[in-house]
Amino acid sequence: MTATQTPVLSRSADVRRRMRGTGDRGRKLKGLIRLLRPYRGRVILMFLTLFAATAAAIAPAPLAKMAIDKGITPKDVGALDQTVALFVASAVVYLLATSAQTWLTGWVGQRALADLRMELFQHLQTLSVEFYSKNRSGVIISRLTNDVEALDSLVSDGIVSLFQGTLTLFGTAAVLLYLDTQLALATFAVVPILWIGGLLYRIASADIYRRTREKIAAITSYLQETLSGIRVVRSFGQEPRHMTEFAQLNEANRGENMKTVYLNASYFPAVEMLSAAVTAGILLVGGAAAVSGRLTVGVVFAFVAALNNFFDPISQLSQLYTTYQSGMAALDKIFELLDTEADIVDQPTAVDLPHIEGRLTFDQIQFGYAGPDGAMALNGITFEVPAGTSVALVGETGAGKSTLAKLVARFHDPTEGRMLVDGHDLREVTARSLRSQMGIVPQEPFLFSGTLADNIGFGLQGATREQIVEAGTLVGLDTVVESFNEGWDAPVGERGVQLSSGQRQLVAFARALVSDPRILVLDEATANVDVHTEERIEEALEKLLVGRTAVIIAHRLSTIRTADMIVVLEHGRVVESGSHDELIEAGGHFSALHRDWMDHAGPLSK
Ligand SMILES: Nc1ncnc2c1ncn2[C@@H]1O[C@H](COP(=O)(O)OP(=O)(O)O)[C@@H](O)[C@H]1O
Ligand SMILES: [Mg+2]
Repeated sequence: MTATQTPVLSRSADVRRRMRGTGDRGRKLKGLIRLLRPYRGRVILMFLTLFAATAAAIAPAPLAKMAIDKGITPKDVGALDQTVALFVASAVVYLLATSAQTWLTGWVGQRALADLRMELFQHLQTLSVEFYSKNRSGVIISRLTNDVEALDSLVSDGIVSLFQGTLTLFGTAAVLLYLDTQLALATFAVVPILWIGGLLYRIASADIYRRTREKIAAITSYLQETLSGIRVVRSFGQEPRHMTEFAQLNEANRGENMKTVYLNASYFPAVEMLSAAVTAGILLVGGAAAVSGRLTVGVVFAFVAALNNFFDPISQLSQLYTTYQSGMAALDKIFELLDTEADIVDQPTAVDLPHIEGRLTFDQIQFGYAGPDGAMALNGITFEVPAGTSVALVGETGAGKSTLAKLVARFHDPTEGRMLVDGHDLREVTARSLRSQMGIVPQEPFLFSGTLADNIGFGLQGATREQIVEAGTLVGLDTVVESFNEGWDAPVGERGVQLSSGQRQLVAFARALVSDPRILVLDEATANVDVHTEERIEEALEKLLVGRTAVIIAHRLSTIRTADMIVVLEHGRVVESGSHDELIEAGGHFSALHRDWMDHAGPLSK
């Protein structure tokens, strides 16, 4: 999701594009309506109160005419009192209707937006792991914060202003016509000028507001990335560079926002000017008519009073256009996100996997990552892992080991062939029932903010204290915990900063174990830990693997040696498989690798 480049268009085509505003309006409005549908009763009520409030807001001018012409001039105090009573009534109606409308708008708007945020968040949970490696998380965060906020202004402010402005405009036009047709028509003569001005404003502002949104998203995204990578920034002493980059983004954001300031600083005062000029003209012409006796004083007074109601909605509606623009741009991005389909979804016919033994069958699996090169990451993989045994995947970087492990956990479906667990094609089972019986330990474990115990129990809802402590003890965390004052309740930071990487890895092991999984997937889970911790993990592994199926990707010979079967991958193909001793005997790829290890690794990996 990079900033959308404006395609090179001819000048007139560009102007036409800007006049249209953001495209595909029908679909977006439908989206908005869908959001509001659950609250339609209150939405209708909101429009009714809006109507009442507008009528009450227009009433004072004609009432003033009545007070002057029927009460003050003929010296009829009774008629004056009646008019004043009506005036008070309209003020009360205005008060009640406006506060009801504000409350209803807020009530509906906030609920609709909360629903939308929920929908977005829910959708984000279903998107593939690939989605998150392709999109920067800051940009995604911006969708749920900046963009939902822009929509907030549109819903809670924009829609109301649109209807109120339009109603006031037409209502006031009717009042002006009723007061005096000639003066009214003279006033309407400036409408084309206003209309052209509004159009120019719209053309000028069309792109600016979209760009301001892009700039603020860039800032959010940059912040997110720098903060997550703060340790790298610090350790390379790159603070000044980041300061410079942030200053540039900040400057670009300010620049775009200033353009809107210049635009607004010229347009809105111009509308004010025009309305003042019209008022002066009306005072001249209308005043002369009153002197000559064609018009009453009441009409002239009321006419001037009503003029504000005529011009205000016009600038209000122009201003609204910018709210509308940013709201629509936000809606666009939000729908784009909602339209991103999860690539792995449970089929409607998917069944829950029963309690499994853990037999893995790779059946002529081919797999290629979607992408421009479209190369096959796995090519005709066929082998079987009996339940309760372990397989070590060996091969150079890029051979396809991680990809194969991802297929076992069904982060992807094979392009061709089948991935089976206990004979069940993974395409036909629910992902949840599979993963609840599976423990995965990645190379870079993630710890959530919370306590150690929370993190260990993460994968199993309602994990008991006993289960957590047992799993933790099994991987040898108990000795680590002794040094913490709070024991198992010691807090770990957002990424577990207070723990060493080896300790974090132990937590990830314990987490994978809490749910007593039938299948364990370890993808270079010990690559980052020191030798001492690795020995502890290895001791633990011996206990852990008993009775479980395990897919182990490791670089250390000692770990690989414990596996029941070794599969050697090369360019997405199985080139060799068998037990450690068989492969050494065969004198093929593995024995060559083995020799290398023995030469380089030295006594540490005995
Ligand atoms: N998310 C991805 N998108 C596209 N290609 C990928 C992705 N992950 C891995 N690959 C490619 O698939 C091949 C196998 O990668 P991987 O399974 O990670 O290898 P290994 O774990 O054995 O080092 C490599 O060529 C790699 O570039
Ligand atoms: Mg890998």
